[in-house]
Amino acid sequence: MSTKIRVVLLHGGRSSEHAISCVTAKEVLKAIDRERFDVIPVGITQTGHMVLVAEEDMNYALIAGALPEVVDNGSRFHWPESAQSREISVTTADGQLQALGTVDLAFPLLHGPFGEDGTLQGMLQLLSIPFVGNGVLSSALCMDKHFTKAVLAAAGLRVAPGRTLTRAQLQRDPTLIARLDTDLSYPLYIKPARSGSSIGVSRVADASTLPDALAEAFKFDDVVLIESGVKGREVEIAVLGGRSGGSPRTSSVVGEIICSGRDFYDFDAKYLGAEGVTLELPAKVSNSQLECLQETAIRAFEATGCAGLARVDFFLTEDGAIVNEVNTMPGFTPISMYPKLWEASGLSYTELVTELIELALDPLSRAR
Ligand SMILES: Nc1ncnc2c1ncn2[C@@H]1O[C@H](COP(=O)(O)OP(=O)(O)O)[C@@H](O)[C@H]1O
Ligand SMILES: [Mg+2]
Repeated sequence: MSTKIRVVLLHGGRSSEHAISCVTAKEVLKAIDRERFDVIPVGITQTGHMVLVAEEDMNYALIAGALPEVVDNGSRFHWPESAQSREISVTTADGQLQALGTVDLAFPLLHGPFGEDGTLQGMLQLLSIPFVGNGVLSSALCMDKHFTKAVLAAAGLRVAPGRTLTRAQLQRDPTLIARLDTDLSYPLYIKPARSGSSIGVSRVADASTLPDALAEAFKFDDVVLIESGVKGREVEIAVLGGRSGGSPRTSSVVGEIICSGRDFYDFDAKYLGAEGVTLELPAKVSNSQLECLQETAIRAFEATGCAGLARVDFFLTEDGAIVNEVNTMPGFTPISMYPKLWEASGLSYTELVTELIELALDPLSRAR
């Protein structure tokens, strides 16, 4: 009998980042150490059905206008029926119930709501299935840019000046729009509280385009942030949880997003190779800047209760580091910063995947 650890690789999902998750899962599937792990790919369709996916159907690629998705192949994946069981099964498209053996661990490679936000983590916790990455609290917290900023600020970390607006507040008092920019400086950044991949994010150069930007952000959430544009370099650093309860670890290099000829790091620049943005890795930072970013990233990781992994994104300004966000399941696509930061720090993609699984199985390191 195989003694390999059996990993359910969850991907897709109901959020607007479905396609990114598919490509992330394809890369992890390619890299995962097959000597040690058996993989059961489970896709979540955009409508929320969990299907068993054949490996050969995971040839997802990011192409503008034809983003990949989990296809509903008619199968239905079943989790164990209680926390006392690890037995998984599938109902095939022709209605046959087939046992799939047991599951040791879930790897939720999902971005955005219904996957990266604690909902799925809660389901796995109910079933007592260990899983890679962050737990319910940190996933839910870091998914929400409003509450993340509140927690980071309370921990003494700097965040971008801004305010939060709900759809209900605006409905109650439409004249609020005229006062939203009070004490803030243009360009403003308008963003849904719970989104990612720059979806729904706009840069607003003056008050005339603020209503359109709000409408765009409200398409994705009932809560929207209005922030002053921060003048600084956009840099990111990777964090891994500590082993056996030890200190979190950061990558030894940082990555930088350089926007020249493009307003900001939008979806097309992130994933579709649009011009005007380059990634610099390792970024040129002084030793003291690197130390400051590493230390601040660990403080942000701990303040938000993270476990397993996170990518902490900053604006590096003339007078220090401002935390923009903490991503609890950063992208793992071929062009994604998180695995590249570790590679540049001496940890290969395959080693990184193994490390994440080992952290998830370590009682002292895994998510609370
Ligand atoms: N306050 C800000 N100042 C300057 N640029 C910003 C600000 N907020 C967001 N941006 C730009 O918009 C991009 C996306 O915003 P971000 O808050 O990172 O949301 P997401 O979760 O979608 O990545 C950032 O990478 C950055 O280029
Ligand atoms: Mg971001």
